[in-house]
Formats: sequence, structure tokens, C-alpha cells
Amino acid sequence: MRKLILSAASVALLALIGPAAAQSPIVIKFSHVVAPNTPKGLAADKFKELAEKYTDGKVKVEVYPNSQLYKDKEELDALQLGAVQMLAPSISKFGPAGVKEFEVFDLPYILPDIAALRKVTNGPVGAKLFKLLDAKGITGLAYWDNGFKIMSANKKLIEPADYKGLKFRIQSSKVLDAQFRSLGAIPQVMAFSEVYQALQTGVVDGQENTPSNMYTQKMHEVQKYTTVTNHGYIGYAVIVNKKFWDGIPADTRAQLDKAMAEATEFGNNQSQKENEDALQEMKKSGKTEIIMLTPEQNAAMRKAMAPVYDDVGGRVGKALIAEFLKESGGGPTN
Ligand code: LMR
Repeated sequence: MRKLILSAASVALLALIGPAAAQSPIVIKFSHVVAPNTPKGLAADKFKELAEKYTDGKVKVEVYPNSQLYKDKEELDALQLGAVQMLAPSISKFGPAGVKEFEVFDLPYILPDIAALRKVTNGPVGAKLFKLLDAKGITGLAYWDNGFKIMSANKKLIEPADYKGLKFRIQSSKVLDAQFRSLGAIPQVMAFSEVYQALQTGVVDGQENTPSNMYTQKMHEVQKYTTVTNHGYIGYAVIVNKKFWDGIPADTRAQLDKAMAEATEFGNNQSQKENEDALQEMKKSGKTEIIMLTPEQNAAMRKAMAPVYDDVGGRVGKALIAEFLKESGGGPTN
């Protein structure tokens, strides 16, 4: 009986994640939480276009944007269960899945610019982090850019003291938690799809995100002040269910790899412009005042957040932080 139950369970499991080759066409459900007209949304649509073209219709990619299918935490569970096959979660969201090392990217000012980022993701650190996903039944395919973060609230955020006592929505990263605590603020983890309403109703006072994410979710309409701090970075790890991916015939998988490489280049080449345009649109709307910091104000922010490196050293790994800093040339004082 036990055997029967077990085999019934494995049949059910096989039906869910079973050999991709057995399906025709092979369907890749790609779920994400942002709008289609964002760096991630555009790259996902490009991957769909190229994957279907290069595989000559053998693969069909269904893209579900705007948390239509799953919210932040649910989507990682869904991928591991095989209910969706591809995701591109923000790198800051891997902690709850048991891969807290990704949170190294969240350290304040660890990435001085996009060139430094590329060095890290294309180098040994990027590969090492992807390797950690194997044990979770996940394969990492690419790193996609969004961009550098800005802060917003209904109060002017200029000096570290301005953050004191305010509630900020954060992604599910303990490093981001430590970052806001270093400013005397109160961080609150919340799914991306819930941020606009939380800001509107005052459940939280402020948030940090890229201009593109802020603008496409209309967050600037419910935040009087936006400060260009560029204190941290949001990017994505494009991931697939390992069992599903390994089950795709090698020739088809090679075509998908080519589509992914080209979609990555396409997305990463335009993410900066997407964010610059979004910031301009926010400014033009007149709904939020855009504040630029002086070098002295910037230095004060860096100084206030510097202790975060020690606070999270034990969690993220001191050796990993050191290796990352060596590659990126960043850090709170650089
Ligand atoms: C967020 O949750 O703020 C972002 O990471 C959303 C995203 O995927 O860009």
C-alpha cells in the first residue's frame, strides 16, 4: 500500500515537472512581479521572442508580469515545485529560499557603478553564487540589471537623522533590514505588489527602489519627496527549475541558451536609460520633489551605513564580502 501511495505520488510529481521533452511544445511559464515596461519586463519579453524563434516553435514561453501568477515569496516556492519553470527574482529575495549569500549585493555602496557590477557577476563571485542554487534544485542562467536605488517618503530625506523613526518597506533581505536600522528607521518586509497601497494608506512611510520600479508602480504619486541616493543596487538572477531544464533536449537547450544570452545583452544595454527616463518622468509629473544630495550629504549617508558591513558579516560571510569588495572596488568609503 505504502509503495502504491509512493508511486502514485511520483506519477503526480512527474506530471508536474516530468521530462520537458515529453511535452510538445515545451512550455516555459516565466513569472515576474514588475510591469512589462521595466528593465526586467522588457528582457523577459525579448527572451520569449528569441526563444520561440530559435527553437522554431518547439518551445513556447508564457510571460506573466505584475505578480499576476505569484508574489515575491510564492514564486520561489512555485519554481521549486515545478508550477512555473523560469523566474528572475531580485537578488535580494534569495534569503528565505536558504541562499543568504546573495544578500552581499545589498550592502550599502558595495557597487560603485555598472562596470563594477559586471565584473562581479561575470567573474568567480557570480559563478560561485549560482553554484549555491544547485542544492535547491535551481539553475542560475543569467544576471539581469535593473539599477541603483533611490529613497522616498513624505518627508525630505537629506541627512541620516531624517530617517529616524520612519517605517520603510524592504525586500526580504536581512542586509536591507540592517541598512535601515543603521539609520534609526524601522524596516518592514513586504511583497512588491503591496507597496503602492502601503504607501498610500500610511502602513509604511517610505521605501527604496529603482526609478523604473517606482514610476511604473506609481509610487511617486503617493510620496512627496524622492532622494537620489544611489546607495544600493537592484538586479536579478534569472533562474530555472533544474530538473525541468536538464530534461530539455541538448540541442533545444543550446538554442534557449543563445536566446538567454541575447536577451541579457538587450536588457542590460537599456536598463540605465529606462531608469534615467523614469526619473525624468517622475520629475515632470510634479507629484514628487526630486532631491539631489551634495557630496557632503552623500558622505554622511555612507558613514551612517558603514556599520552594516560588520553587522551582517556573520550572516553573509566575511570572506565573500572581502572577495566581492576586491572585485567591485566599492565599499562605504570608496
Ligand atoms: C522589489 O521587490 O522592490 C523589486 O525587487 C521588484 C523587482 O522585481 O524589481
